[in-house]
Amino acid sequence: MTSARPFVPGAEAVPTAAPARITMVGVTKTFVTPRARVDALGPVSLEVAEGEFVVLAGPSGCGKTTLLNLIAGFEPPSDGEILVDGKPVTGPGPDRVMIFQEPALFPWLNVLDNVAFGLRQHAHLSAAERRAIAEHQLELVHLEGFARAFVHELSGGMKQRAALARALATAPRALLCDEPFGSLDALTRERLYAEIQELHSRTRRTVLFVTHNTREAACLADRVLVLTARPARIKRVITVDLPRPRDFYDARVSVLAGRILAELRSEITENRGRNDERDQAGD
Ligand SMILES: Nc1ncnc2c1ncn2[C@@H]1O[C@H](COP(=O)(O)OP(=O)(O)OP(=O)(O)O)[C@@H](O)[C@H]1O
Ligand SMILES: [Mg+2]
Repeated sequence: MTSARPFVPGAEAVPTAAPARITMVGVTKTFVTPRARVDALGPVSLEVAEGEFVVLAGPSGCGKTTLLNLIAGFEPPSDGEILVDGKPVTGPGPDRVMIFQEPALFPWLNVLDNVAFGLRQHAHLSAAERRAIAEHQLELVHLEGFARAFVHELSGGMKQRAALARALATAPRALLCDEPFGSLDALTRERLYAEIQELHSRTRRTVLFVTHNTREAACLADRVLVLTARPARIKRVITVDLPRPRDFYDARVSVLAGRILAELRSEITENRGRNDERDQAGD
């Protein structure tokens, strides 16, 4: 068993390839609706290494979710190319899993069945094997005591942990996280920072993680990409070399968070004038 698949009990259970390398070359996205034409993204060129944890921070509405949706294959780019290990993305695939701000769990299934659900696509697995993998994933996110609970019986943080377990159960090569902790209270979030760092160091999946929280960005990232206002382009790349696991309240995390915040503030200030002009022009 290699380090790329340590969390699957029984090495042959779910075939796990190495984490994904994601490449974007000159990617843009423009939405055209009957009422407007919105340049939402780019051009963005980007290379995310295998197992890298990249955080995307940018002003509200700049195009962060759009960027994740394109990599997930939910939408095609207007221009440019998105590649996973050199192969063009042509649609969604089991190698890339999205985690949303509001955990998308099925209310009619208990927690264990929610986690096991995605494993049905692995036809070679028996029901007992699917269950064993799901139980193991629940242990990893410390939810083993809630396997039989239904979703409405969980707290917000527990729901998000269940969503994480479900995403990891299928052994995706990349996790696309869209403000996954955005709706959680501060204490729950802080616990999850430790858990997600531990999971990442254990599973080494490639992660793209969107957040508005600059301290969260500094705590989790190998690299922070600060994006411009819409259409999102990469304004600044900040490499985070701090040792792991990182404490959310570490002074070095605070200093970095301050730097990221300064970049974001300057982007919002610089852009205010531009947006005002556009609004006056009726754009
Ligand atoms: N399907 C769509 N059709 C038309 N416009 C869209 C669509 N999806 C997004 N947009 C527009 O694209 C722009 C970027 O949206 P997006 O959701 O990517 O921003 P965001 O950075 O994720 O914002 P937030 O920080 O608020 O989550 C917005 O102006 C939005 O209105
Ligand atoms: Mg968004």
